[in-house]
Amino acid sequence: MKLDNKTAIITGGASGIGLESAKLFISEGANVIIADLNESDGKPAAEALGSRCRFVKTDVSDKSSAYFCVMEALKRFGSLEILVNNAGITSDASLHKMSSEQFEKVIDVNLKGVFFMTKYAAAQMAENNYGRIINTSSIVGLYGNFGQTNYAASKSGVIGMTKTWARELGRKGITVNAVAPGFIDTGMLNTVPANILDNIKQRTPLGRLGSPADIAKAYLFLASDDAAFITGITLSVDGGLVW
Ligand SMILES: NC(=O)c1ccc[n+]([C@@H]2O[C@H](COP(=O)([O-])OP(=O)(O)OC[C@H]3O[C@@H](n4cnc5c(N)ncnc54)[C@H](O)[C@@H]3O)[C@@H](O)[C@H]2O)c1
Repeated sequence: MKLDNKTAIITGGASGIGLESAKLFISEGANVIIADLNESDGKPAAEALGSRCRFVKTDVSDKSSAYFCVMEALKRFGSLEILVNNAGITSDASLHKMSSEQFEKVIDVNLKGVFFMTKYAAAQMAENNYGRIINTSSIVGLYGNFGQTNYAASKSGVIGMTKTWARELGRKGITVNAVAPGFIDTGMLNTVPANILDNIKQRTPLGRLGSPADIAKAYLFLASDDAAFITGITLSVDGGLVW
């Protein structure tokens, strides 16, 4: 058991990569808070995972909601060792068509949400001189992508925050790393046309899309003591795709 007696908050844990990670973390002994806006999927998913899993309705882009989530983790499980900043959204349009609302919405969730959650979680972790923070970037944060100005900005920004927090929090026993998934078979790809997905598979050395489990295992590695001397990195999990 790699996460025995550890409590993890997984944002965006109601579906896709986050839900797969909640299942894996629980199977490795952790208590898990699924922190998601989507109560109709998140609540039953948490109940199905048993007493070591709880759903906390959270909007990561809202400061007080993020704070409440961290306090709930402490109240329900007594401590907080791991934060996986996995919640994320897209709202695609080419540069000349993208509205400022569209830009801000994605920045609010994908970048500001990571800031709020980490600010409150890291303060608790520092008290115990132990923490693991994992931020979800993207292949798009490394290479950019047509129609994703807002998303690319947010996911590149996550890498900058990861490197900064690794420096700020290392002496407090907290590691901070990012995972940059390639193209992963979740609801997020529903709007991507089939011919583009085929093209992506062809250009991926491993010849397939990623599965949520591929990313969950990377989160687990960075959350576990196997990664105790790793901080500030961005781990690409993309089947070798150079986008
Ligand atoms: N699927 C991919 O190809 C891919 C590639 C690179 C990076 N990612 C990143 O992986 C992460 C997980 O994505 P996924 O593919 O599992 O998508 P998903 O849509 O299945 O999951 C995202 C979850 O985030 C939740 N969420 C959205 N806004 C929120 C908010 N304000 N507060 C709390 N929760 C909120 C949603 O309800 C949903 O449950 C995201 O950060 C995404 O950007 C995904």
